[in-house]
Amino acid sequence: MNCINVNLSTKTFNKLKVLVYEISGIYFSEQKKYLLETRLSKRLSALNLLNFEDYYNYLKYSSEKELEIKELLNSVTTNETSFFRDMPQLKIFVDILKQIISTNSFGAYKKIRIWSAGCSTGEELYTVAILIKENIFSSNIEFEIVGTDISEKVLSSAKNGIYNGYALRNASEAVLRKYFNKIDDDTYSIKDEIKNITVFRNINLMDVKEIKLLNLFDVVLCRNVIIYFDAESKKKAVVNIYTGLKTGGYLFLGHSESLHSVSTLFKLVGIGKTPLYRKE
Ligand SMILES: C[S@@+](CC[C@H](N)C(=O)[O-])C[C@H]1O[C@@H](n2cnc3c(N)ncnc32)[C@H](O)[C@@H]1O
Repeated sequence: MNCINVNLSTKTFNKLKVLVYEISGIYFSEQKKYLLETRLSKRLSALNLLNFEDYYNYLKYSSEKELEIKELLNSVTTNETSFFRDMPQLKIFVDILKQIISTNSFGAYKKIRIWSAGCSTGEELYTVAILIKENIFSSNIEFEIVGTDISEKVLSSAKNGIYNGYALRNASEAVLRKYFNKIDDDTYSIKDEIKNITVFRNINLMDVKEIKLLNLFDVVLCRNVIIYFDAESKKKAVVNIYTGLKTGGYLFLGHSESLHSVSTLFKLVGIGKTPLYRKE
């Protein structure tokens, strides 16, 4: 598909920016105008549109607008991720699971529910599943691991569970052998024993009604997602995540993210450099 070489005017940028923001909470500052321009020029080509103003009108008024909003979200999201990303933090995640199990603070029923909010193509979620298989040996506890994302494109790739060597650069040979089927020199597919404890849903973090339908979680990983939001959307996402957590449940953010000046809802119980939050 050839990309159309047209400029995004400031006026149309402002309209598109507001549209993206109102749906997703993702905020494109003036400095990120080039990014929106590059990402959306592919949509202009795909729809045979001549300029961004026409694209904006298509998103607002076309009979296909709902379909195109999905494409818009696929295009504007940043989906970078990898297996075993930020291992020091994931070690703390495993410790927290062990602590939940040992203190039995998850209540009478023996199921632990984990939510990868903004799961992208699934690497974080499958990493969690592998860490559980490798580290938690309590046979009477069941795990349910739910991945959600606003982009349908990344979710479809997550469900396929096929990855290249780059996505798996931090995985050991032993993990590759145990949890993946090798398709060719640089392609691996995740085994069913891992897939079977995972579920993926297309859910917008701005939409509390949809989040409530997921039922409550013991632990939420929302890493490298709210960095793309402005202060207002961060607040909204954090309130929605809080709603989705059990009392006593934990929230992990990305290592460069924090709730400082965003929300006082959670208690900071960070360990070392890991900002870890608890719903009291
Ligand atoms: C950079 S990836 C992070 C992936 C993974 N959590 C990690 O840390 O490796 C951010 C993901 O958040 C998703 N996202 C952005 N805004 C969202 C929203 N409002 N609701 C749900 N997901 C969103 C994007 O589609 C993207 O896949």
